[in-house]
Amino acid sequence: MDFFKLITVRESCRNYTGEPVPRETLKKILNAARLAPSACNSQPWSFVVADTPDAVRHAVECVQDGGANKFTDKAPAFILIVEEHAQLSPRIADRLDSQHFAQIDLGLATAHLCLAAAEEGLGTCIMGLFSEEKAKAYFSIPSEKRVRLIISVGYSADSAPRAKSRKPLDELVRFV
Ligand SMILES: Cc1cc2nc3c(=O)[nH]c(=O)nc-3n(C[C@H](O)[C@H](O)[C@H](O)COP(=O)(O)O)c2cc1C
Repeated sequence: MDFFKLITVRESCRNYTGEPVPRETLKKILNAARLAPSACNSQPWSFVVADTPDAVRHAVECVQDGGANKFTDKAPAFILIVEEHAQLSPRIADRLDSQHFAQIDLGLATAHLCLAAAEEGLGTCIMGLFSEEKAKAYFSIPSEKRVRLIISVGYSADSAPRAKSRKPLDELVRFV
């Protein structure tokens, strides 16, 4: 799909058909995440995929914790975005006291993943609201690591993409 069309088609999917996503397709979109840029090419990420009935049930429990994300009942797969240690070059790390690039890197990987999913005809929803404690317990993620996001993945039951609600460009951009 043309890239500028793809970014309008990608939207947060909150209505899934329940149809399973083939592992090959999941691997394809995970590979797109793997190819994302990162500071010093440190690639400070790993991905935990929940696509079996038990794992999906546990992922649903994590994202619906406290009454959130009720729309995930029929999502057939979830991808947890885990922050790994960023090995930055010492010369650069010394100059970075005010930036935490790993989270930026994870955002870029997430964007690659969601856009690749849209290209594959899949809907995704990035979720920041979830029980990290449950996620670590259910998926054997060491307690010192951070689970930054959980992404639901599946086929959308909606017929057409929504119009985007965004601030106007001239409010956001200043040419100098
Ligand atoms: C870091 C992050 C966390 C988010 N957390 C949630 C969430 O917990 N639940 C949810 O339904 N949507 C969540 N969203 C989706 C946003 O609400 C959505 O991207 C935004 O409203 C723009 O809509 P669109 O994705 O359909 O274009 C999150 C998005 C991001 C980037």
